[in-house]
Amino acid sequence: MGTAPANHGEQPKAGARHVAIIMDGNGRWAKKRGLPRAIGHQRGVEAVRRLVRALEPMQLECLTLYAFSSENWKRSIDEVDSLMNLMRRFIKSDLAEFVANDVKLKIIGDWQALAPDIVEMLEDALSQTANGKQTLAVALNYGSQHEIARAAAKAGEKGEISAETIAAELDTADLPPLDLLIRTSGEIRLSNFLLWQAAYSEMLFVDTLWPDFKPEHLAQALDDFAKRERRYGGRLAEPTNG
Ligand code: FPP
Repeated sequence: MGTAPANHGEQPKAGARHVAIIMDGNGRWAKKRGLPRAIGHQRGVEAVRRLVRALEPMQLECLTLYAFSSENWKRSIDEVDSLMNLMRRFIKSDLAEFVANDVKLKIIGDWQALAPDIVEMLEDALSQTANGKQTLAVALNYGSQHEIARAAAKAGEKGEISAETIAAELDTADLPPLDLLIRTSGEIRLSNFLLWQAAYSEMLFVDTLWPDFKPEHLAQALDDFAKRERRYGGRLAEPTNG
């Protein structure tokens, strides 16, 4: 077996297939307006809904969103409760639309450890959307270092530990390689999100606060992505004449 990461064997393509977003800035959006943080998160859900509705024309295969990290439990009980309630409401209100629009839901992270009613709702949503064409992957109770450790342990149980066998056990193993990782709100860090998957991704850090993020921002990011050169640690593709 070679040493190249398993999911980067193919030639780079012009268009992005898989984009992930660290949705940051809900709290600051609310604070700027003198509103409670919970309202910022509510507006954050509306930004999610707008993007999911715009998925089809953008022809993305997968959009992965960082909705709740394993570190987010450290927030106040009220804030954690309001995020969990938003999750419940979002699934209830938008599931039928996902099914109608061929959106396939996927959850990454230790989501089975969430409240039993949420786990049940998610299991139902996963099965109802299983035949969808475009994937909306939501990271819930997700931490990348833990995901990698879990994957390495599983690979070890099966025999060989290598970049390929670990990649094959990640929560994202069935998703296309990550092309572009976006973080909103001006913060420039990965916060334990998709550390392995981002090894060769392009990164984009924008100042927009998440509730203000529109499909036009994503469309612009996809346009810019298509113009960037990608090297994968090697040489560039042969320049074309003319
Ligand atoms: C970061 O903003 C955002 C979060 C911790 C949660 C993101 C969640 C949502 C957008 C809503 C739930 C999503 C779904 C899919 C139902 P922050 O609160 O850290 O903002 P701040 O840094 O300005 O305080």
